[in-house]
Amino acid sequence: MSGKRVTVPEILAAKGHRKLAVMTAYDYASARIADEAGMDVLLVGDSLAMVVLGHDDTLSVTMDEMLHHTKAVARGTNHALVVGDMPFLSYQVSVSEAVRNAGRFLKEGRAQAVKIEGGRETAPQIRAMVDAGIPVMGHVGLRPQQVARLGGFKVQSKTAAEAAHLLEDARIVAEAGCFAVVLEAIPARVAQVVTRELPVPTIGIGAGRDCDGQVLVYHDVLGLFDRFTPRFVKNFAQLGTASREALARYAAEVREGRFPGPEHEFSIDDEEFKRFIG
Ligand code: KIV
Repeated sequence: MSGKRVTVPEILAAKGHRKLAVMTAYDYASARIADEAGMDVLLVGDSLAMVVLGHDDTLSVTMDEMLHHTKAVARGTNHALVVGDMPFLSYQVSVSEAVRNAGRFLKEGRAQAVKIEGGRETAPQIRAMVDAGIPVMGHVGLRPQQVARLGGFKVQSKTAAEAAHLLEDARIVAEAGCFAVVLEAIPARVAQVVTRELPVPTIGIGAGRDCDGQVLVYHDVLGLFDRFTPRFVKNFAQLGTASREALARYAAEVREGRFPGPEHEFSIDDEEFKRFIG
């Protein structure tokens, strides 16, 4: 898809009018495909650590790695709004460090916004980033950067008290200036209430159908990652299986001398060739 890029005011204006389609992307090729498919937002998620770099969780991915991939996604995109996911410890330590690192996603990564995980404790960072002109997407519910504290990737807000705490966190990050808030792995009915109460779009992942938009991981949508599949994932294709079959055919044709064929070869003028071998 080409033409005008989706803007932050357009994302805000979508609330209550149309659903937002959000997808992760990590490189130029996947970004081009997702952009041409018409995504509103491409998130360069820190899930990069797991689905692209092979780590067990998102904690070890660095600012430099995130920026490297954000640059590639930005080059592959001319329609979707590109959001860079701030990695673990790039925004928690101090407000000034958070603003400086967020700014790098826009200045160097050429993203149009950043995402940070967290509730009320991140409000000072969100306010300072927004004041500096950096649009921020929030992320509450299951926060994968908290995996060490949580002891695993678990559904959140299953009690009334936890749900009330989540709603208050979501309200606070929206009031601090987030233009959208990701709700991850929470009961659908809790997400419905949060979506009704927030003035900005909610983007669900494992949060049911009533969110203002949905986000999934590129590799999950296309069936390219099978180490584990959370309940909320739907494979819309099985490209992992298709890729393995295609690569096995390639290897077989190479071994059997069937690839490359004459149609893949370059020619040389007969005279030139005679002179060469003579
Ligand atoms: O890193 C990521 O992919 C995310 C989304 C799944 C929301 O944070």
